[in-house]
Order: sequence, then structure tokens, then C-alpha cells
Amino acid sequence: MKKYCLALFLAALCVFLSACGNPDAAANHGEEKKMIVVGFSQVGAESDWRKANTLSMQAAFSPENGYRLILDDAQQKQERQITAIRNFINQGVDYIVLAPTTERGWDTVLLEARAAGIPVIIVDRMIEIADTNLFTCWIGSDFRKEGDEAVRWMERQFEKAPLRIVHLQGNIGSSAQIGRTEGLDAGLAVHPEWQLVFRASGDFTQAKGQELVEAVLNEGMAFDLIYSENDNMAYGAIDALKKAGLQPGGDMKIVSFDASSTALHMILSGEISYDVECNPLHGPRVRAIIEQLERGETPPKFTYVEETAFDREKLTEALINSRGY
Ligand code: AHR
Repeated sequence: MKKYCLALFLAALCVFLSACGNPDAAANHGEEKKMIVVGFSQVGAESDWRKANTLSMQAAFSPENGYRLILDDAQQKQERQITAIRNFINQGVDYIVLAPTTERGWDTVLLEARAAGIPVIIVDRMIEIADTNLFTCWIGSDFRKEGDEAVRWMERQFEKAPLRIVHLQGNIGSSAQIGRTEGLDAGLAVHPEWQLVFRASGDFTQAKGQELVEAVLNEGMAFDLIYSENDNMAYGAIDALKKAGLQPGGDMKIVSFDASSTALHMILSGEISYDVECNPLHGPRVRAIIEQLERGETPPKFTYVEETAFDREKLTEALINSRGY
């Protein structure tokens, strides 16, 4: 009997010691640090910017960093985002991160998240909501400032010369569209020599950007500048111009937003004239917010990220390669 007890004791000791030295074994014995579960409702995959943003979130919320990320791609549809948030609530995630398609229409579902006690962090675009306590905090871009920055370049570039503008808008109702359109409208209001010859939404996609500029060219409209509310629509516009035998950057200038690496190369080649940065690398920023919340701290309610703008003078290949997107 004594021998049997000793054998049992030694066996138990072995299991204990191996669990101490081996995290997997520790996990099996319920000693692993609990993973933080984050449900991320992403707008879609409509642009290079969006893809860089998704990669940034996936890298920040990796298992190695102690997170389980549940990513939902809403294909630019708000209804899908609302369904995704409800699913996150049912799954009992620890945090919900929302990159909203449009600004309005979030009250009900965010009330449901609050009732479930799940903090909601809004990223990239803003939401318009009666009770701002329904989300914990927001981090993203100042889209109106971006629009103003583009207009300042147009003022410097064209001074008082007449300017016929084709305006490609992003998806209507998103902060990125609202702010960048407001910036242009403010410019149009103080420049009677500027003329808006065409305006329509290309939903931030390359295919629609191309479609719209092809339609403008087929209608025989004359213009001097394309104000494209993101890079992918600018790529589509460039394809349309080239197909028509025109040289982008020659008589027809292109101003764009995002400053993705492909677009910055197009500045070097002269096809895009000016690009206002919209920074997609929000993963580490959102993770820092969650870490603050985990420590019981209160992160700032609103944080605007620093952004810049590029023309040919400011750019080098080395600078493009040093950026993360
Ligand atoms: O909200 C950011 C905008 O959304 C980017 O400018 C655009 O490319 C993206 O789809």
C-alpha cells in the first residue's frame, strides 16, 4: 500500500512539474491566461486602404498578443454590420470594434450592446448618435480636414485660373465621403472660377471610378481636374483616361485621398498630382485602447490620428517603402 501511495504521489508530481514548464500543459489544467475576444465588424474590402486596415487589425489582435479576433466583412452593407454586431453579442465577446459604413442608424444595435455590457470602440469613420455613451471611444481620421487640405493644394496650384472639376464621391453617408465632399464644397463656395461639371458616387471602388469617368468622357464633358475621394477610384479614373488615349497628370490632374503605396508610385510617375493621407494602421491603436480599458483606465473619448499629404516634390522611393501601406 505504501509503495502504491508513493507511486501515485510521484506521478502527480511529474504532471505538476511538466505543467509548470509547458504552457500547453498548463492550459490543459486551466492555468492559461484568458484570451480577450474581440468582434470586429469591418466595412468590406472595397479598397487598398481597407485591406491594409484589416491586416493591421489582424496583426494587432493575434493569439500571440493574447487575443481571439472574430472578423466580419460587411461588404459595404450596414444591415450586415448590424447582424454581425448582434452575433458578437450572442457570442459574448469581450469587446466590439466597429468600422461603420455610414454615420447614421446605429442607435438600436448599440443599445443592445450596452444592455449586454459589451464596450464598443468605433474606428476609422465617425457615427452620428443621440447618446454618445453608447460607445466607449472613437479613433480615426479628420475627413473634413483632409478635404480642406486637398482644396488648399488646388488653390496653390491653379490660383485664380478657371477649373472644371469632376468629383468622384465615396459611399454616400460615410464620414469619409461627407468630410471630403464638405471640403470641396467649401472651396467651390469661395471660388466662382471653379466649376463642378460632374459629381457621383463611385462607392470607393476602382471599377465604379472607371465606369464614372468613362461616362463623363462618353458625354463629351470637358474638365481639368478629378477630385477622387479615394485612391481606388483614382486608379479606375486613370484606366478610363488611358483607354480614351488621354494622359492622366497632363491636362487632366488628379487629386486623391488615402496615399496608399500604389498611388504614391503614381505620383512619382506623374499620373496623380496630389494625395492626402488617410492612415489605415489602426490595429495597434485600438489594441492600446483595449489595454487601457483592461487596466481600468479611461481612454480619451475621441482621438484623431496625425495625417499628411504628398506631391511629387515631397516623395522618394525610400519614403514610400518606409510606410506600412
Ligand atoms: O474610411 C476610410 C476610407 O474608406 C478610405 O479613404 C477608403 O479608401 C476606404 O474605403
